[in-house]
Amino acid sequence: MLIDSFGRTMRYLRVSVTDRCNLFCTYCRLATEEMLPNNRELLSFDEIIRLVRLFLELGIERIRLTGGEPLLRRNLVELVRALTALPGLQELTLTTNGLLLERFAADLRAAGLHRVNISLDTLNPDTFAAITQRASGSPVAHGERGGLAAVLAGIAAALRVGLRPVKLNMVVLRGINDQEIPAMVQFARQQGLLLRFIETMPVGAAGSAMAGQFMPADEILDRLTAQGDHVLLPIPTASGSGPARYFRIEGTEADVGVISARSRHFCDTCNRMRLTAKGNLVYCLGREDRLDLKSPLRNGADDAEMKTWIQEAVSLKPAGHTFAQQETHSHRMSALGG
Ligand code: GTP
Ligand code: 5AD
Repeated sequence: MLIDSFGRTMRYLRVSVTDRCNLFCTYCRLATEEMLPNNRELLSFDEIIRLVRLFLELGIERIRLTGGEPLLRRNLVELVRALTALPGLQELTLTTNGLLLERFAADLRAAGLHRVNISLDTLNPDTFAAITQRASGSPVAHGERGGLAAVLAGIAAALRVGLRPVKLNMVVLRGINDQEIPAMVQFARQQGLLLRFIETMPVGAAGSAMAGQFMPADEILDRLTAQGDHVLLPIPTASGSGPARYFRIEGTEADVGVISARSRHFCDTCNRMRLTAKGNLVYCLGREDRLDLKSPLRNGADDAEMKTWIQEAVSLKPAGHTFAQQETHSHRMSALGG
C-alpha cells in the first residue's frame, strides 16, 4: 500500500505519455512554448509498463493517460493494450483534447480503454480558435472551423464506440466562455455527456496569467440556478475517483460536476500521483516537488529498489497545494496533463 505521511492512500496514477500538444490553450500553454521533439528523454513504452506494473503491485488501482495530448504519442493503442493486460488494474482512462479521437476511438476501445474525458470549453468556433490559439503547422489538418468540428466528431465517436461515461471538461474563463455555461449544459444533456466546470488553476506561466479570468465554482453554479431555470441537488460522487463534486439537475436525468481546486480544495482526500513523460514522479499538481524515477530505472534498479523510490516519493507528498500563496508556478501544465 502507498500511504503518505498524512494517512492518505494512493489509488490513482496519472501517466503523461508526451509533452507535446496540438493546441495552445491560453490557460495551459504559452503560445511561445515550442513543440518538443519526441526523443530518448521520454519513457519508452516498456519503461511505462514496468512502472505501472510496480504501482499496481503497490496498490494503485486506476490509471489515467494524459499528455500534452496523449493521442500524439505514436502507437498509443499498443500501450493501452499492454496496460489493460496488467493484473490489478481496475480502470484505464484517458484525458484528451479530442482532436484525434475520431480516428482512434474504436481502436482504443478494442484495446481495453474504459472511458475518456474530453476538454471542451466552448461550442463557438471563434471562441475555440481564441482559447486554443491554434498554431499553423499543427499536426492536425483542419480548416478554419475544423478544430472544433474535429473535437465534436471525436466526442461523437467516443459515444458511438462506448467509451462511457464520456465526461466533458470545461475550463470556465470569465469574459471568454462564461456566457456559454447554459448552452454547454444543454449540449451535454442532449448528447448524454457528463459536463464538469473547472476553475482555472495557477499552474505554470500560462495558468498563472489567468488570474483575471478566474471564476469561482459557486459563481459558475449560480449561472445555472440564479434565474430559477435549474435546481441543482448535490449527489454522491459519480463514477471515477476524481476531484469533481456532482449535482443532479432536478427533474432531469442529467448531472453536472464542478472542480474547485481553488475555492474549495480537495487535498484532504487526494489519492493520486503523477508520472511525467520524462519519468519524474510529481506528488502534487500545486507544488514544484518531484522525484526522478527515470535515472534509477535506467541505471538498472531492480523492482524492489524501484518500489522503495516510489514509496519515498509518496512519503514526501505535501498536505496540500499552495495555489493561494504562490501565484506563479514553474511547472508547465502542458507537461503535467492536468
Ligand atoms: P475522473 O476520474 O473522470 O473524475 O477524472 P479527473 O477529473 O480526475 O481527470 P481529468 O483529467 O478529467 O481532470 C479534470 C480536471 O481536474 C483538470 O483540470 C485537472 O487538472 C484537475 N485535477 C485532476 N486531478 C487533480 C488533483 O489532484 N488536484 C487538482 N488540484 N486538480 C486536479
Ligand atoms: N486550470 C484548470 N484546468 C486546466 N487544464 C489545463 N490547464 C488548466 C488550468 N490552468 C485542464 C484541461 C484538461 C485537463 C486535463 O486539465 O482543460 O481538460
